Amino acid sequence: MDSKTEQIQKRYDRISVIYDQLDRMMVPHWMREKTVTLARGSVLEVGIGTGVNLPFYPQDCTLTGIDFSPKMIQKARARAQKMNIEADLRQMDVQQLDFHNNLFDTVLATCVFCSVPDPVQGLREISRVCKADGQVVLLEHMRSENPLLGFFMDILNPLAVWIIGNNINRRTIENVEKAGLNIIRLENLKADIYKLIVASPIQTAQAVSQQ
Ligand SMILES: C[S@@+](CC[C@H](N)C(=O)[O-])C[C@H]1O[C@@H](n2cnc3c(N)ncnc32)[C@H](O)[C@@H]1O
Repeated sequence: MDSKTEQIQKRYDRISVIYDQLDRMMVPHWMREKTVTLARGSVLEVGIGTGVNLPFYPQDCTLTGIDFSPKMIQKARARAQKMNIEADLRQMDVQQLDFHNNLFDTVLATCVFCSVPDPVQGLREISRVCKADGQVVLLEHMRSENPLLGFFMDILNPLAVWIIGNNINRRTIENVEKAGLNIIRLENLKADIYKLIVASPIQTAQAVSQQ
């Protein structure tokens, strides 16, 4: 693990104690429900955190979850056990997934690619482990296209990174495209900041020619 990744991992270990309280203020449950109920088949949730999404998975999904923070994954395990949900939860870096290619029907992440040190590499990895006919489902917040709001997000970003290891001005749609994923559904959930993205690992001929 490189030093940048280790630094962000430690930050999440530190905030794991208060993460659920912070989360309640930031991500409403309806957004999670709308996103997570799209999951089907064998699912990999990356950056599963404390397992806040666990209650929303359809019952017929088989769930594997990873997070690089041992403290966060420990909380996710406790939540799964309390809710009697079977899930294979492992400590792992999304930038270097220890899974075969084409393994999962759904790869899902909520509010993760704002903090992954190399988001394009992480997105390439989830594309690799997703089956060719599978889906990548993301709920992410990102930099607003509004020039003034975007400017303030740029100004405040170093503070957000310092406190919670979270970039508030990532251009996540661009990153998803750079990783070669093919966006098939894009929906604004809150202003143009929180978005639902559904993508396919199959690249269009146009996307391939642009790389
Ligand atoms: C803002 S939290 C979101 C947690 C959870 N997905 C949720 O919606 O509540 C970001 C999560 O991504 C994890 N994370 C960040 N970078 C990661 C990486 N490179 N590999 C695995 N997990 C990572 C953090 O440890 C943290 O649990």
